[in-house]
Amino acid sequence: MSAIILGIETSCDETAAAVVRDGQLLSSCVASQDIHRAYGGVVPELASRAHQSAIVPVVHQALIEAGLNISDITGVAFTQGPGLLGALMVGASFAKGLALANNLKLLPIHHMQAHILAHFIESPVPEFPFLCLTVSGGHTQIVIVRDYFQMEILGETIDDAAGEAYDKAAKMLGLDYPGGPIIDQLAATGNANRFTFSEAAVGKFDFSFSGLKTSILYFLRDQVKLDPGFVQKHLNDICASVQFSINHVLYKKMLLASKETGIQTIALAGGVSANSGLRSMFEEGAKAHHWQLFIPPLKYCTDNAAMVAMAGYFSWLKGGDANLDVSPLARMSFIEI
Ligand code: KG4
Ligand code: ZN
Repeated sequence: MSAIILGIETSCDETAAAVVRDGQLLSSCVASQDIHRAYGGVVPELASRAHQSAIVPVVHQALIEAGLNISDITGVAFTQGPGLLGALMVGASFAKGLALANNLKLLPIHHMQAHILAHFIESPVPEFPFLCLTVSGGHTQIVIVRDYFQMEILGETIDDAAGEAYDKAAKMLGLDYPGGPIIDQLAATGNANRFTFSEAAVGKFDFSFSGLKTSILYFLRDQVKLDPGFVQKHLNDICASVQFSINHVLYKKMLLASKETGIQTIALAGGVSANSGLRSMFEEGAKAHHWQLFIPPLKYCTDNAAMVAMAGYFSWLKGGDANLDVSPLARMSFIEI
């Protein structure tokens, strides 16, 4: 029997649905919630409500694009966590209802593992074991990926995530939310060596971005005192310098992790892996250190349900089928199957 998996993602501010048949992606739909822009960040209660109104049309669209009916689906995968609890609840309840009504396998998925498994949506795919840098709005981790659900965290952030560092820096510069893509765009014509910001000294494979945030804040405060037009005049150079500071520490730690583990298959995953500076820094690194480098296409870097459906397919292969009492979790450790 073929496995036709519907994936549902509602962990933050994207409502997404996708269909995978026997490991082949048939459709992927994402509805982004613009409502948060006005608030300069995701407002959890508004996110839950927006998921509630978007989930039916998004799932419907994913089925139409796949050319299927709900009766064709054999399993439903959903993001169990980590994420905003109220937002996760919408996807989890919907998936459970669908599983109950249609007698489907219920496949809970860890959001960060799904980001990593996005590498299996399209060929070429990385060989196990590989090292994955997962960089999103809530996470920054170096993960040894030994198999689809055998993953070990080698290091992670002790405070802010890389995406959070981008978004907070953007906010200080008066830019919109989410700030990562805006900084990326402005940095393209800036000089990354113009300004330097302090780098945190933390555990070997761990990260810390809260010091960088303070360093940017004090730098801007001092410069604006001297020249109120400072930010406007030097916006591109500031963005390029901030981007370099964040990316360089990510790169340095991955280089060290590769040297220490001897693993030379390197992958990037999560929203920040859409950053053009990070992508080119790792491309240079791959040339210099003979890495096999895997960077997802842009549409699979940021939140999507194709990665959830794909993770659901791998879970299905391993006999995954949860009970209806499975609950969403704001924080959760990797699922091992
Ligand atoms: O993976 P994702 O879509 O959602 C979470 O799981 O958090 O990641 C969102 C994060 C945001 O912080 C956003 O600013 C950042 O990814 N991001 C970027 C870029 N595109 C998205 N950061 C830097 N450069 C980008 N091009
Ligand atoms: Zn994500």
